Formats: sequence, structure tokens, C-alpha cells
Amino acid sequence: MKSTIFKLGFCIAASACSLLASAQTWPTKTITWVVPFAAGGPTDAMARSIADRVSKNVGQGIIIENVGGAGGTIGATKAARASPDGYTFLVGHLGYMAAAPSLYPKLAYDPIKDFDAVFRFPDTPMVLLVPTSSPHKSAADLIAFAQKTPGRVTFGHAGVGSTSHLVAAMFTNKAGIDVTTVPYRGAAPAMNDLIGGMVDAMFDQTNTALPQVQSGRVRAIAITSQHPIAQFPGVAALAEKTLPSFEASTWYGLYAPKGTPTDVINKLHQAYVKALTDSAWTKQMADQGVRLLSDGQYAPAEFSKHTAAEVARWRQVTTEAKITLE
Ligand code: MLT
Repeated sequence: MKSTIFKLGFCIAASACSLLASAQTWPTKTITWVVPFAAGGPTDAMARSIADRVSKNVGQGIIIENVGGAGGTIGATKAARASPDGYTFLVGHLGYMAAAPSLYPKLAYDPIKDFDAVFRFPDTPMVLLVPTSSPHKSAADLIAFAQKTPGRVTFGHAGVGSTSHLVAAMFTNKAGIDVTTVPYRGAAPAMNDLIGGMVDAMFDQTNTALPQVQSGRVRAIAITSQHPIAQFPGVAALAEKTLPSFEASTWYGLYAPKGTPTDVINKLHQAYVKALTDSAWTKQMADQGVRLLSDGQYAPAEFSKHTAAEVARWRQVTTEAKITLE
């Protein structure tokens, strides 16, 4: 009996030591970041921009694995089940890492218990977009039309619990209108259908909406920041013109499967902090309407606290806005 207990103790100690040793030499192979939406959307674009720079600073390749579906919860489940060895991470955001526990009764992961926060990305406001063929020149136009045609206006989004879904639900609830929502495996396929006029409207993050608006493929008719922003000239803030106090933005960040060595998390965070000293890069993000945060807000401990607070907050928001899986 004693030898068995000794062997078990030895094995546990040995695996802990090997994990510790590997953390000290980490990274020794390519790293994977799971993005739970189709390529080309705002989460994917933000992830690739950050991964490119973090990769250079940690000296290993970072590949983006797009795993779409169910508002990001399929990809998040895959990442939650990955080994905590420092080679698989999740690019998370408020949808599947904060609102999902309130929307999906059988969610296969817990954003707090199954993940360690690594670092927070900058935020992005959302832009209300319509096809260029749309007659609507403002949010008030769209709301007035929807009030006369209950259920007829269609909103594309990236799946239940995605920010494009959540913000649309908050918008329609606040405006008192009834629309039909159309889910996609990410904002990119939804954007394609918006450009083609197959859906009447969608909310998208500023970083991917801006080039589409600037190229004239879609029209921006409102923004969810508290005030208008220079990148979208002439586009009114919903809070100022149409829906008082309506403000929304998407926060993102990198998460590791629970138990990933702290050394690895700290190395990744430091590589990100170093990347943020590149003022050309941060200006490029700011020019896309991305909102840079204070250094403290990016840190693992602060991001972990933020995630926990957001899980609680979204329980209230989904109830008040009557947001459900349907
Ligand atoms: C969303 O939650 O709407 C996502 O940002 C969509 C995406 O990034 O494709």
C-alpha cells in the first residue's frame, strides 16, 4: 500500500515538476489561439493583429484556429477542454465569456472556473449598418419603419450571444420594435449578406465596419459609443440622438485553460505589453475606432476581475432586455 501511495505521490510531483520545467522553457512549439467565429470578422481581425505582434515577442508562431457556431460557445468549449500546457488559448469576448451563462442553460464550460485570464484586448464600439440600397438614413428612420412593420426588418448577427446579437436585442428592446434575427457563423458571413441586401441591418465592431463603410459597400446610420467618433463622420451616437443612455461596446481578451502555468501567462502578458509600446500599431487600432485602455486594465488579475463582474452584469442585462436563445 505504502509503495502505491509513494508512487502516486511521486507521479503527481513529477508531473508538476515537468509542467514547471516546461513553463520555464516555454514556448518550444507553435501556439494556437482559438477564435470562435468565422475568419474575417472583428474578433478574428483583432486576434490576428495582436497574435502577429505577440508571436514576434515570444519567439514562436501563433496560429488562429477559427471554430464557429452557437455564438462562440462551440469554440470556447473546445478551448476549455484543451490541455493547460501553454499551447492552446481562447480569444474571448463578452458574449461567450460573460453573457452565455445566462443564455445557454447547458453551457459546457464555466468562464470563471474553466479559464485563467491572460490579458485584455482594447475595446470596440459597435456601428449600426444597413445596405447602401436601404432607404434608412438614421436609426430613427429604421425604428419608425420597424414600428409600422412588426417582424419584417431582419437583423444579421454572429449567433445567439454574440455581441452583434446582444446589441441588436438591446437596441430593439429599448426601441420597442419587433424584428427577425438571422444568425451566421460570424460577423463576416453576416456582413456579406448585408452588402448583398439579404438582411436589412446589423451591428458590427468599428474595426471591420470601417473599411466596408469607407468603400461604400454599406452605410453606417448610428454608433453605440456615448458620443460620435471621428472615424465615422456624420454618424450619430444612439445615446445622443435616438435612445438616451444607450451605450455598448465589445471587450475582448485572451484566456487560458484553467491550470495553465502562471509563468506562461505572465510571459504572454509581458509580450503584449511590449507590443503596445509600438505607437504606430496603437495608432492604427485607434484609427479603426478601437478604444485603447490603461495598462492596468490589460493585466491578468484585472482582466479576471472584469470577467467575473461582467458575468454578473450580463445576468441582469439579459433579463432586462428579455434576451433569450430564441
Ligand atoms: C460577434 O460577437 O458579433 C463577433 O464579434 C462576430 C465576429 O467576430 O465574427
